[in-house]
Amino acid sequence: MNATAGKLYVMGVGPGASDLMTVRAARILSELDVIYTPTGKKGAKSLAHSIIEEYLSPKTEVCTYHFLMKADMAAKQAVWDEVAQALKEEVANGRKVGFITLGDPMLFSTWVFLLQRLVSQPMASPSWLEIVPGITSFSAIAAASAMPLAMEDQTLAVISCTASEAVLEQALLNHDCIVLMKVYSRFPLIRDLLQRHNLLEHALMMADATLPTERCWCDLATLSFSEKEWGKGLSYFSTILVNKNWQLSK
Ligand SMILES: C[S@@+](CC[C@H](N)C(=O)[O-])C[C@H]1O[C@@H](n2cnc3c(N)ncnc32)[C@H](O)[C@@H]1O
Repeated sequence: MNATAGKLYVMGVGPGASDLMTVRAARILSELDVIYTPTGKKGAKSLAHSIIEEYLSPKTEVCTYHFLMKADMAAKQAVWDEVAQALKEEVANGRKVGFITLGDPMLFSTWVFLLQRLVSQPMASPSWLEIVPGITSFSAIAAASAMPLAMEDQTLAVISCTASEAVLEQALLNHDCIVLMKVYSRFPLIRDLLQRHNLLEHALMMADATLPTERCWCDLATLSFSEKEWGKGLSYFSTILVNKNWQLSK
């Protein structure tokens, strides 16, 4: 993309609470010509959009797009191509364009698929792009539960529960602290792994951190949901923290 008067601002909006966003992101949001906000379901307002609504200028145009979560790869790629192209054209037309992601934009975020399409070669800092970091979900959960993540020479792994059982087990064996994201239907498997490695007393799970619906479970051993119920009932926004050097008081 050529340097133009337009600019793309990609902002992490934090884990959920509107006041857990950076001052920089709030300032940029009040100055945008157009903002692209994601939605998981067609026609529905996104969580990311409801977080930033109070900072947005009434003059800012809002473009909602639907990233397909469950579609095949070709369909997902077609949406990423389309949104990347739209962002490119907005910037080429000299507009101040916003794009928001939950948590931090550089961690498990669809934004990275767009970045790959917008920046063809590694570039230190293109003049048309600014990425504003956000508070990650796991930082917010560590703070809300007063559970430290890593200290001194300890190691920290951040891993998605969509990984294979072998990869998850290796992470639990090899690291002092482990952040397990995208838990949902994998909860029964994760609990078995934690039990097998005597880690249940060092683990907690939080759903919807910093939102009014926030829930925290410090005793994963006694959760009595069946596998079927977990698949349906657990919030998509659920994360497990494990710290082998931190014993939880139940
Ligand atoms: C696509 S990833 C987005 C991660 C995000 N970019 C970040 O920096 O935290 C979605 C996963 O993040 C975690 N997550 C995001 N928001 C959360 C919240 N408010 N409470 C608990 N977990 C959350 C969950 O593990 C969820 O499955």
